[in-house]
Amino acid sequence: MSKCVLVTGGAGYIGSHTVLALLENGNEVIVIDNFSNSSPKSIDGIERICGKRPTLIQADVRDSLALESAFTNHDIAAVFHFAGLKSVEESVQNPELYYDENIGAALNVIDQMRIADVKTLIFSSSATVYEPSEAPPYAEDSLTGPKNPYGQTKLLIEQILTDLAGMNPEWRIGLLRYFNPVGAHSSGSIGEAPSGEPNNLMPLLMQVGVGKVEKLSIFGNDYETPDGTCVRDFIHVVDLARGHIAALRFLENANGAHIWNLGTGVGTSVMELIQRVESATGMTIPTEVVSRRQGDSPIALANPSKAFNDLNWRPEYSIENMCIDHWNWQCLHPDGY
Ligand code: UD1
Repeated sequence: MSKCVLVTGGAGYIGSHTVLALLENGNEVIVIDNFSNSSPKSIDGIERICGKRPTLIQADVRDSLALESAFTNHDIAAVFHFAGLKSVEESVQNPELYYDENIGAALNVIDQMRIADVKTLIFSSSATVYEPSEAPPYAEDSLTGPKNPYGQTKLLIEQILTDLAGMNPEWRIGLLRYFNPVGAHSSGSIGEAPSGEPNNLMPLLMQVGVGKVEKLSIFGNDYETPDGTCVRDFIHVVDLARGHIAALRFLENANGAHIWNLGTGVGTSVMELIQRVESATGMTIPTEVVSRRQGDSPIALANPSKAFNDLNWRPEYSIENMCIDHWNWQCLHPDGY
């Protein structure tokens, strides 16, 4: 069987780390990316690390002709679909953009896969699909109910793919629900390069660290959690990438649609993460407690048992590794790529 994998959005943060993991696994990789929120320099970074380079196609994943020629010109066995818009805030402001781009992209990928008779697909979903009022930790069968259009697009695509596999049992589909990905490859050659002002905690902490942002606003310290700040399940992006390889292996012997949480099951509060970053960087992070951010759950935590059991996968990196590696990347690339 061909070991060639098409990766949509392969130049992005999680995509680039997964492309690296695929190349290290001996797969041939074709990346399709329009660089709307990523840089082609990530591909150079991948090559610096492993000495191999994926084939790069610069195109929008909704471009049917571009996808079609990728399938025609390469013996593709599986698709990893990362491409999509990912800002919760922007999705609330411009929901139709999110439905159009994210659903449109997924439908085009499915369509072109069907034409090319490729039936193994791994989709980047998110822990954001869980109903926030459910008691954490979340298992894959916990109630879903995303509260913003971004999360809705993730859940809708999961539903489309589950229906597809239900009707066509020869499809092999992995739906990976990521918790909070942080960190970077330890070489510092690839990492997260948010365009514009970041909204997520770790990139913001890093920017405070290098003096680009004056202080970190802590969104509420009056939650019912041990120290009053929210608790999240941070996972090193390299562990997340390894989870994709494990899912691909699982799908070699199983058809149907399968959901897996990719998290550690270990919670870290906002306050704790700040302290961890301080000890990893040796700096004091100026902070200020402000009011809660709308839509934040007090605790978001994975029950990762299903992934542990099915995929024989375990996260290997500690919170300390996540902070050190993210900081190393940030110091080497203060302005992104
Ligand atoms: C967010 C998204 C989620 C997405 C994930 C990607 C929301 C509601 N959810 O998750 O869909 O998959 O990012 O990693 O936006 N915090 C501060 N100060 C800040 C920024 C964040 O205190 O300046 C706190 C937040 O209140 C939250 C925690 O840090 O409790 C983590 O926030 P963030 O990194 O934005 O991730 P999530 O909200 O968990």
